Parts: sequence; structure tokens; C-alpha cells
Amino acid sequence: MTESLTVRDNRTGVEYDIPITDGTIRAADLGKIKANEDNPGLAVYDPGFVNTASCRSSVTYIDGDKGVLEYRGYPIEQLAEKSNFLEVSYLLVHGDLPTKEEYDAWVHEITYHTFVHENIKEFMQGFRYDAHPMGMLMASVGAMSTFYPDAANISDPDNRRLQIIRLIAKMPTLGAWAFRHAQGKPYVYPDNDLSYTGNFLSMLFKMSESKYAPDERIAKALDTLFILHADHEQNASANAVRSVGSTQVDPYSSVAAGVGALFGPLHGGANEAVLRMLRRIGKVENIPAFIEGVKAGNERLMGFGHRVYKNYDPRAKLIKQQAYNVFEVTGTNPLLDIAQELEKIALEDEYFVSRKLYPNVDFYSGLIYEALEFPPEMFTVLFAIGRTPGWLSQWLELVQDKEQKIARPKQIYTGERGLTFVPRDVRWA
Ligand code: ACO
Repeated sequence: MTESLTVRDNRTGVEYDIPITDGTIRAADLGKIKANEDNPGLAVYDPGFVNTASCRSSVTYIDGDKGVLEYRGYPIEQLAEKSNFLEVSYLLVHGDLPTKEEYDAWVHEITYHTFVHENIKEFMQGFRYDAHPMGMLMASVGAMSTFYPDAANISDPDNRRLQIIRLIAKMPTLGAWAFRHAQGKPYVYPDNDLSYTGNFLSMLFKMSESKYAPDERIAKALDTLFILHADHEQNASANAVRSVGSTQVDPYSSVAAGVGALFGPLHGGANEAVLRMLRRIGKVENIPAFIEGVKAGNERLMGFGHRVYKNYDPRAKLIKQQAYNVFEVTGTNPLLDIAQELEKIALEDEYFVSRKLYPNVDFYSGLIYEALEFPPEMFTVLFAIGRTPGWLSQWLELVQDKEQKIARPKQIYTGERGLTFVPRDVRWA
């Protein structure tokens, strides 16, 4: 089989042979197709990059039809069951699993970079009492570039590694402080005797006790949720990190862009919408009428469907299991019964089956977060902490990829040309 595409330009009658590599053609090859010498060459128009590969990546593999998700080749199910978030972070960032020495050093370094400069605390305290924690997180991550100007030296591997460690270590501190801020509670300093998630819980919930004792089952559930959110290849926020990172700016500025992208309701905010929907349904008896409304096109079944997965989102399955573990500690969330019944009915219904609509990562995660007493605004902050190693792995791959250039798409210009400017005093006379 010839791995090429023959294109005939009917404007000129010229035929072009375009090589196909890894199921793609190079857009630059299309640029060679010109109606005449002055013509800029053929380009592709792809709003939302629906069918455009922006990079070569070895971080995360997804097969949406089969419901497969792998980090560096390891199935998400195995990582969620047998690994932990810091080991998965190591795997994502380095590409391989750590030896015992590498793992111990990694955990030690991340544990001892959890503190932030006191000035960061001070400026976070300057936010309004009702500031959205994602806005606070985005601003404080970006501001960290001013505390670590050495981070601008992105060509030095040791320097890159230090910033990666700092970011993974400090995100829970910033996220927890954004949470405490909204509650008017004092910020809690990191406790480096605790695990990554144990320390996070301490910074979130510790009050007057001299030492916070996290519930290990909750810490484990949170750890698993972080693993499940750690990367998802070229999603909107990873693309934002790469796009900003392509200017060779420091990683704090790039990750702040990722936080901004994740803030949007089309990306990180769907789990909140699921909770609102379940609350509105109210009781199991109301489900059939609700489903009829969805089928009639009145609204969407939130937490169902995905651009890439046309099968059960593997993360949804694992999150559902974690929900049971959390509810053992917190007591069940009454909305769980509605969610389960809704899922059962939807998975048997021809409308959902024929459209390949299955629960996605957001269907059950909001229920867990709510049981853990997080307000909805915090859901996306949790997502951001989990996604940080993924963003950094994508960033690291980008800065080492010789083929990458500053991200600068083309446009199809639709405006006026060559107008003559008339000054205000003449225009308004
Ligand atoms: N409920 C009911 N019908 C749906 C749903 C849904 N949740 N999702 C898709 N459909 C239907 C559409 O109406 C359409 O039907 P039609 O062919 O009769 O017109 C068909 O399924 C295909 O839908 P599209 O909108 O073309 O699918 P797309 O891939 O563009 O959308 C999306 C994916 C945005 C996730 C969509 O499924 C959705 O809106 N789901 C609900 C919101 C949600 O849960 N988002 C979280 C996604 S996970 C994440 O971002 C972390």
C-alpha cells in the first residue's frame, strides 16, 4: 500500500503526491499547492482543531471507541488501583516508572517544596472575600514566575526539573489557601510529615488541633481522583499550556494559561452541572420524565457523552468505585441513587445507545467532591491540581521537541481592505 495522497488541483490541473505519515499529512505540504506563484498556497480551516494534530506526543494514549486511556503505555485502571499520584506524576514527567531511589528522591523533593513565599500568602489575602478559587489559583500560579525568575531559563534540564517539582508541590498549597480564603479561615501551612493528599486535606480542613489526622480512605480516594485527572492528551488546557509555552516563556506562565482554560464551563465545569441536574430531578420517580425531555431535545443529560470517548469513559468507571469508598466514610449522598438509576435507564435507552452516549469523568466526581464538603467552585481547583503533572509533561515534551515552533495559526481574513482613514474632526464635522 502506498502511504501517500494524490491531490489534483482542479484550478490548475496539477497533481501533487503528499506523503502520509502516522495517518496524517503535513499542512506544510498542502502549502505547496498554489493556483499561481503569487497565491499563498492551500491551508486547512479547522476551528477548534477538531481534525488537526498539533504535535507528536508519547505522554497519553486514548482510544475513544474502545474506552482506553493509558499514561506512558500503562492502562489507567492499573495505575488507579496499584500506583499513587506522585508515582504517576513521575511516570508522566519522566516517561518511565521510578526505581526505589528515584521514587524516594522525587517524593522527598516534592514534599519539601510545598511551602510558598510569605508574600504569596499576603497577596492571596488581598483577594475579595468572594473571589472564585480558580481565579485565585490562576493568578497565584502566574505570580510564582516573579518569585522564581530563574524559571525563565527553560533550556537547562536541571532548572526545568526544579520548576516542575515546585509546581507539583505548591499547587495543593495554593488551592487549599484559595479554599480557606473563601471561608474566612486562616491559611494552614503545609505539614510535610503527611502524604501529598494527607497534607492537602490538612491545609483544607485543619482547625485548632495541633496535628491534623487525615482519614486514609479519603486521602486515598482523593489520590485516585488526582491520578484519573492527571493527563488527557491534547485537551483544551494542555493545548493552552503548549500554545503559551511555545513562546518559550517560563512554566508558571504556561501553567497559569492551563488553569485559565480549565476554568471554562466547557472544560472543567461539567461536574457542577451534573449536581445541579441531579438536584433538579429530585427523586427517582422523576427520571423517566426527565429522560423524555432530554430525548425531545429540551436539554442534555449532563455528565454523558464525550468528544473522544464513544464508549464508557474508563475514568467514570473508576470514579464510581471511589464514590462507594468515600460514602463509607462520609455517609451516602442521596443524589447517588438518582445518578445510578439515571445511568441504568440511559444505558438501556435506544437514544443514548445509538448515539454512543456513556457516562464521562464528570458524572460521578461531583458527588464525591460534595460528600467531601467541597463547594462547587472548588471542583475545578481539584481538577487543576490533578492535571498539573500532565500539563508539565506536555510542556516538557514541547520545549524539547525540535519540530515545534511558536504556535501561530493562520486565518481566513473576512474584513475590509485598503480603506482611507478619515480623522475624527472631519468624520464628525
Ligand atoms: N445528552 C443528550 N444528548 C446528547 C448528549 C447528552 N449529554 N451529548 C450528545 N448528545 C447527542 C446530541 O444531541 C447529538 O444528537 P443528534 O445527532 O441527534 O443531533 C449527538 O448526541 C452527538 O452530539 P454532539 O454534540 O455532536 O457531540 P460532541 O462530541 O460535539 O459533544 C459533549 C461532546 C460536549 C461532551 C456532549 O456530549 C455534551 O454536551 N455532554 C454533556 C456535557 C458534559 O458532560 N461535558 C463533560 C465532558 S468531559 C470533560 O470535558 C472533562
